[in-house]
Amino acid sequence: MRIPRNFIDRLINRIDLVDLINSYISLRKTGINYTACCPFHNEKTPSFTVSAEKQFYYCFGCGVHGTAITFLIEYQHLTFVEAVHELASRLGIEMEYEQGSSVKSYDELYQLMIEASKFFKQQLRNSTKAINYLKTRGVSGEIARDFGLGYAPAEWDILLKTLGTTPEKRTNLLKTGLVKQNDSGRRYDRFRDRVMFPILDKRGRIIAFGGRTLNQNKEIPKYINSPETELFKKRHELYGWYLANKLHPLKNIIVVEGYMDVIALSQAGIKNVIAALGTTITEDHIKILFSRVSEIIFSFDGDKAGQKAAWRALETSLPLIHAGRQVNFLFLPSEHDPDSLIRKEGMQAFSTRLTRAIPLSNFLFDTLIQQVNLNIPEGQAALIKKAKALLTRLPKGPYQEQMWQKLKQITYQAPQKRRRNFKHFKQITSLRELSLVHQAIVCLLHKPALSQSIENPKQLYGLKDKDIKLLHGLIELTLNNPQLTLDAICEHWRDTEYAETINKLSAQKALFTEAQINIEKDFLGAINRLYKDYMAQRMKYLTHNITSLTAEEKQELKSLYKSRGQNSQYEN
Ligand code: UTP
Ligand code: MN
Repeated sequence: MRIPRNFIDRLINRIDLVDLINSYISLRKTGINYTACCPFHNEKTPSFTVSAEKQFYYCFGCGVHGTAITFLIEYQHLTFVEAVHELASRLGIEMEYEQGSSVKSYDELYQLMIEASKFFKQQLRNSTKAINYLKTRGVSGEIARDFGLGYAPAEWDILLKTLGTTPEKRTNLLKTGLVKQNDSGRRYDRFRDRVMFPILDKRGRIIAFGGRTLNQNKEIPKYINSPETELFKKRHELYGWYLANKLHPLKNIIVVEGYMDVIALSQAGIKNVIAALGTTITEDHIKILFSRVSEIIFSFDGDKAGQKAAWRALETSLPLIHAGRQVNFLFLPSEHDPDSLIRKEGMQAFSTRLTRAIPLSNFLFDTLIQQVNLNIPEGQAALIKKAKALLTRLPKGPYQEQMWQKLKQITYQAPQKRRRNFKHFKQITSLRELSLVHQAIVCLLHKPALSQSIENPKQLYGLKDKDIKLLHGLIELTLNNPQLTLDAICEHWRDTEYAETINKLSAQKALFTEAQINIEKDFLGAINRLYKDYMAQRMKYLTHNITSLTAEEKQELKSLYKSRGQNSQYEN
């Protein structure tokens, strides 16, 4: 244990968990506990509970629970040691370390990384070869400075010799991964003849390097990274995140594959960009991004490999997407990566592509649909099975529900269309055969713009009728979208409790033969009578409760009496 146990105990004792959590999400006191909507899963009613007495949090929804330290680790993505630091600094207490602990040498490792970075930068300034390489790749001096680019010379152990001035430093160079040791004990520089990309953690400390070879030899790996070390845990780190995270505001973040892609976009002015470090993007990565932005855009090549990488990113993202969060995909022409494309097309064209990125839902269903034959039940069943495996991984909530809806639409579209054609509903010969609400609905289905002619639609919504909600929805829908066609309107109620009613009312022949219905007159007539029905219902209700009316209700009753007998607004 590097940090003394009793020091941690002291911190835990002093910190107030309610204050701590409240500084990140706002808690409400309910009884003896504090609650909030859980920050770890999507929910509408609060089940995340913090006990001031027990100094413990627990979510009745998803089961997360823990202490101040767990909270910082889970919510802020800190490591254990960072969480302890955070508590100490909140309490204004000096950190304490055990005698001979290795924590001190962490500081030395960080220090060594700074020295190495300085060395690489110095070497870049001295190397025409490396400078020319960066020039041919279009990297400006300014952006090279922003990203701290450097050069590791083509020599076996120049870094080791320059920085490894003491036995302790030589050991530390090994620990940072900058120096390797072979089986016979010989030590040498890991990065040779490479352009160096320092990798920063979220606090801006150098924790690793990536290096791109200048050697044309195909046997030599194009890129290598520092290995996992005490400072560098790949699955938590993202190239470019420190700089991107400093941007305010930051609406969304673009995820690309390579170092050079980050640098090229950034140089072009698209600075909200990061890359996973030559590994597949992990759930931890996505969590980090979603802790700051609500939209992630994955930008991959249009080729097979890019599609594959995108699909993996999709699968990894699923458990983390809930209402309010969005994942989009931008596929580039197969011969391009973001770096080459933005240099070819420029920033404007690339930005336009970004705005056209495909939502995850489309990418998901489009991909699955291509794998099956939707014209036969077998294909539909296969699609459902494949989609189900993915959709069940989404957190429960509105987003997941929408995705299920979409799946239903896709798989049942074909048979339902057919059914609508073949199912014969009882045909009316006159509108009068229908209820008033249905009359109004039929007219609106036929001529959506009619909703504009209702003077006070809200008054109708209080009417007692089993389908008043449908009429309500239809009026609001057509008020906002008067250009909607019958087909589009019907789609709005697919798979709802009103689907059958809409289906039946839309299939009336009389609708399609204008001569039989004077649609405007019939509509206003129906609305007018509905309006009267509503007034009658209100009067009855208000009279019935005459002893307990509010001032407003009394006023309403008075005006109802007054207007009774008078012609209503719709009669001419
Ligand atoms: P790419 O091969 O797409 O490289 O690898 P790139 O970034 O376009 O390289 P340039 O433009 O030729 O310089 C994308 C990323 O995959 C990792 C690196 O992180 C690289 O940026 N990678 C690639 C490796 O780790 N090792 C390799 O040998 C190649
Ligand atoms: Mn490239």
